[in-house]
Amino acid sequence: MKKAALITGASSGIGAATAIEFAKNGYFVYLMGRDKDRLAEVALQCRSGATLLSCELTDTKALDKRLNDMMNINIHRVEVVVNNAGIYKPGSVEGDTDEIWSQHFQTNLLAPVHIVRTLFPYFKKHGGGSIVNVSSTLGVSPVANTGAYSALKAAMINWTQTLALEGGPHKIRANCVCPGIVDTPIHSFHGLPETEKTKTLSQMASLQPLGRIGTPQDVANSIYFLGSDLSAWTTGASLSIDGGINLA
Ligand SMILES: NC(=O)c1ccc[n+]([C@@H]2O[C@H](COP(=O)([O-])OP(=O)(O)OC[C@H]3O[C@@H](n4cnc5c(N)ncnc54)[C@H](OP(=O)(O)O)[C@@H]3O)[C@@H](O)[C@H]2O)c1
Repeated sequence: MKKAALITGASSGIGAATAIEFAKNGYFVYLMGRDKDRLAEVALQCRSGATLLSCELTDTKALDKRLNDMMNINIHRVEVVVNNAGIYKPGSVEGDTDEIWSQHFQTNLLAPVHIVRTLFPYFKKHGGGSIVNVSSTLGVSPVANTGAYSALKAAMINWTQTLALEGGPHKIRANCVCPGIVDTPIHSFHGLPETEKTKTLSQMASLQPLGRIGTPQDVANSIYFLGSDLSAWTTGASLSIDGGINLA
């Protein structure tokens, strides 16, 4: 059976680059996201084959249907799941409503928990699997006005360690990446007019020990490493991919 990877948030940014990276390395890819047109554009760049799983992650019924459809396709064995989809809504202690906390919780943590709970028995039955969770440097070291996002990204790191402990005996690995600032549509600066954007990026670059912010491909390379057998003896790890910003 051909090996396959499920990537959530594959319609944009880091998830799109990750899907293309797995496909370059021979994986069939299941592309999960909401925007069908963008998912289809990514699929065209995945030469090893791709299936679109368009889905609102907070709709548990729809998510279950997509996951079950995927697990019932017997021509591919899903070996890797990348929990990448996420939202980022900065806000202050006093400004962050329950609704904002709930949105971050549902999308950034509960949906990955649901996906992993559903896939665990499948991985056990098929002799193992590899989970890569996309956290953030803010999950390690928060900054002001990111309370909900940072707290849930921190929870993701801790949860990954539990998965590693429970999954180990079943050859299920779980690891985490913690990206720094990466130029994707999740940031408001991404859509700025070109001159303004160049100015903003160069300001941000000057704060980074490696002198630039990240690209989706920078993160995709590390996700591929942790998802694939290249990291066969690594589990429970959190890998910072942040140009050294956490050291600065
Ligand atoms: N960019 C950074 O600086 C940075 C730094 C650290 C960590 N991260 C993390 O990296 C991950 C990817 O972010 P990105 O920067 O690549 O952002 P992005 O370009 O905005 O991509 C976010 C992806 O998540 C999907 N998504 C969001 N909410 C969803 C929902 N409710 N249901 C289904 N899909 C949903 C989006 O799907 P649609 O577009 O189809 O709706 C999109 O594919 C996130 O977990 C983010 O927290 C990013």
